[in-house]
Amino acid sequence: MKIKVINGPNLNMLGIREPSVYGAENYQTLCRMIEEHAEKKGIAVEIVQSNHEGDLVDMIQDCYQKFDGIVINPAAYTHTSVAILDAVKAVSVPTVEVHISDVSQREDFRQLSFIREACIKTISGRGFQGYLDAIDELLRVLGE
Ligand code: DQA
Repeated sequence: MKIKVINGPNLNMLGIREPSVYGAENYQTLCRMIEEHAEKKGIAVEIVQSNHEGDLVDMIQDCYQKFDGIVINPAAYTHTSVAILDAVKAVSVPTVEVHISDVSQREDFRQLSFIREACIKTISGRGFQGYLDAIDELLRVLGE
């Protein structure tokens, strides 16, 4: 079982950006938590991050026939990107959408998620734990 974790813009700034919203832990800590969880579950995980929409589309396309599941936090592109939605639909790889903050309790412009309709589940407001829960959800759905 191989899972790709894809992170969008500004998530590399975790720990620095708005700690009251995203917490004090940095991106390296998030990656370490995901890797440790994957190791515990006996699966392979690859974690990538980009600040660029086209790169994120490329990263999703790269999953075609190579990965069993995708965990994605498209960050701000959640609320703007039809291209990222289309890429997830194109590859037909089971995908879980994750947000560190509880977007449902934030600004109106964050209430729309283009990608949500292509995802098997959306996890929001659980901090870094949301990524681990997303991996567990994929394991459950994929029956492993
Ligand atoms: C986010 C929520 C988005 O609205 C925001 O643009 C982000 C991070 C989250 O993880 O809570 O950059 O996806």
